[in-house]
Amino acid sequence: MSDTELAGRLRRTAEKNDDGVEFSPAAAPLAEKLLGAAQEILARYPAGRERSALLPLLHLVQTEDGFVTPAGVSFCAEILGINKAQVGAVATFYTMYKRRPTGDYLVSVCTNTLCNVLGGQEVYDQLTEHLGVGHNETTADGKITLEHAECLAACDYAPVVTVNYDFTVDQATPDSAVEMVDKLRNGEQPTPSRGARICSLKEMQFQLAGFADPREGAVGDGVAGAPTLRGVRLAQEHGIAVAGFNLDTPITTTKPAREEQPGKVATAVQAVKAAVGTVAEKAAEKAGQVGDRVNAGKKTEDPQIRTAELRNPTASEPAKPEANAGATTGVAGSAPAGDAKPAGDSPRTPDPTRGSEEEK
Ligand code: FES
Repeated sequence: MSDTELAGRLRRTAEKNDDGVEFSPAAAPLAEKLLGAAQEILARYPAGRERSALLPLLHLVQTEDGFVTPAGVSFCAEILGINKAQVGAVATFYTMYKRRPTGDYLVSVCTNTLCNVLGGQEVYDQLTEHLGVGHNETTADGKITLEHAECLAACDYAPVVTVNYDFTVDQATPDSAVEMVDKLRNGEQPTPSRGARICSLKEMQFQLAGFADPREGAVGDGVAGAPTLRGVRLAQEHGIAVAGFNLDTPITTTKPAREEQPGKVATAVQAVKAAVGTVAEKAAEKAGQVGDRVNAGKKTEDPQIRTAELRNPTASEPAKPEANAGATTGVAGSAPAGDAKPAGDSPRTPDPTRGSEEEK
């Protein structure tokens, strides 16, 4: 499917699905082109959960402009009934949503651990020098956007270079990467190391939005390649095997039932609780004994009364304040504020023996 065919398909779905949704002037031009496809995406989600369609919708808006434009943000927000800040938060989080115009081909060079030790950084540096652009920059002819990427999930073929997210140069060298981008800039179709023919970035965005990829070989279903199986072969050659490993062991889809046993943390928590309970019991017992002694057999179950009894065991008369109690109580002796303020925050009572500042 070429870009022209892609535009045709979008136009047809728009005609088919136009349901009269009103868009702002900012979003209307995009809605005219993308509404049909957007409705198709929304229909995949349960009623009330349509906002989960934001990720494919952002890919969809990139089919038009190659990046997430302000109009694209408005379109997503309006069709989902969310605000633009919510759309922006998602669009700026993921690196696959571009914030600046992109070229026809996005060339990604993996510079993550395994690719890096096998020369990924040299490949990236060579491309940077050859194309005259850095990370996330586009060549002046608008053909190539370059980026260095984190692990592209093909470490067995390291270092890897993708074009529009398709694996294009496996076990890349600086020379093989330069040869590939030169062909792209000359309008040629370089043969990728595996998979389908190289498509444009806008075409790829349509597939990332969840629409079928019509390219032959786009869906990989062959046997694993030699680099992927290298570890198995080496193990076989050297007679290395995992003890008890049986290739024919059936894969169960449900977890086998197992006896419920508390984990280490649960066991420790139980032990602590038991210890705390024992200490509390002993303390209560001790307090009871003291109370029994001082009250000569009088005992109450009310903990507040019991505390008072312990403070004033004879209970013959109210406890008298100590002579200098005010000097030692400090803020704790102040009246409670009564408005949830800490005690001591109450306004000070004016001292009648002292005149005001004005009187002086
Ligand atoms: S480290 Fe490069 S593909 Fe995994």
